[in-house]
Amino acid sequence: MAGLSIRGLTKAFDQVRALDGVDLEVPDGQLVTLLGPSGCGKTTLLRSVAGITDPTEGGIWLGDRRIDGVPPERRNFGMVFQSYALFPHMSVFKNLAFGLEMRRLPRSEIRKRVAQALHLVDMEAMAGRLPRQLSGGQQQRVALARAIVIEPDVLLFDEPLSNLDAKLRDSLRDQLRALQRRLGVTSIYVTHDQVEAMALADEIVIMFSGEIVERGDPVSLYRRPIFRFTAEFLGRTNVIEARLDGDRCRLPWGDERSVENPGIDDPAGVAIRPEDIAISTANGSDPHGEIAERMFLGAGTNYVVDAGGVRVRVNVAGTQNDLIDIGTPVRLTPPKSLHLLRRGRHGSAEALA
Ligand SMILES: Nc1ncnc2c1ncn2[C@@H]1O[C@H](COP(=O)(O)OP(=O)(O)O)[C@@H](O)[C@H]1O
Ligand SMILES: [Mg+2]
Repeated sequence: MAGLSIRGLTKAFDQVRALDGVDLEVPDGQLVTLLGPSGCGKTTLLRSVAGITDPTEGGIWLGDRRIDGVPPERRNFGMVFQSYALFPHMSVFKNLAFGLEMRRLPRSEIRKRVAQALHLVDMEAMAGRLPRQLSGGQQQRVALARAIVIEPDVLLFDEPLSNLDAKLRDSLRDQLRALQRRLGVTSIYVTHDQVEAMALADEIVIMFSGEIVERGDPVSLYRRPIFRFTAEFLGRTNVIEARLDGDRCRLPWGDERSVENPGIDDPAGVAIRPEDIAISTANGSDPHGEIAERMFLGAGTNYVVDAGGVRVRVNVAGTQNDLIDIGTPVRLTPPKSLHLLRRGRHGSAEALA
């Protein structure tokens, strides 16, 4: 087993630079998710690693072996795509055996390995079926088994859960994560779904327009992103233009807070996650604003509050609180210390939503 190193990877199509000097390390056995809006170059990066696309510049290493230039079938990488891409006329067993027959393994070994791989994805009972006799989720589990049966050095996933309905997506996501951990295969997982990215990743890499915006483990990238783009793409956030004074800031509705990272260049505003701000009815004290919108979601309630001329999203978790009516004067309690975001070239991700 070995890690992957991608250095200076550039891919130019006629008009577009789909990738523009991407550097990326995937440590041995880890799973990195590539997250970004449609067209930012995720698939092109994955296909370059797989060897299906030839990069214009740059190199790819597996451990200390340079692999760009090695044909795809000799890279020993397993791939799972959005469309299940099983061979339609072959049984589940044959779909898995195919890659092993290509490698000229003995028949008994092939039978053993296929059975093991199908067992891992809980599909042993389906070995004799054709793909069209399976549901989408089952087909995707077979595709996963086919990717791992070759004992790959690297696993590559391109939005493998996008075609499945929400419940199935969640359960398959959890199975996939458990399997990747257990096998310890170095993996790249492409998605445009931020929940998926956070649930699966050892590290998340945010991409925009052929470049990496920033990267980090899910917790620090969610809590303390550098750029506004990241904060808005990874979940939702309020970006509030506050008046800055040293390590203090004054919010539009009058409250003051400390800033945990004062003095950054090119500030776009302070980030306040909707789930980190508390809300209470003003009850005679000076209100900060009033409820403009309310959405009851079962597990919680989302509000939009008009406060000091800005619209602030507030999410209240749980079902134990009384719902607050539209028009009610309220007070807001943001966290004690706020995180300042940089504007950056990528600007706001809200516009893309
Ligand atoms: N074969 C191709 N020919 C021309 N342009 C392409 C080709 N493949 C991808 N592109 C362009 O490269 C950019 C990145 O595409 P892609 O890697 O598919 O993005 P993503 O997977 O993030 O949606 C897009 O602008 C896309 O239109
Ligand atoms: Mg894509």
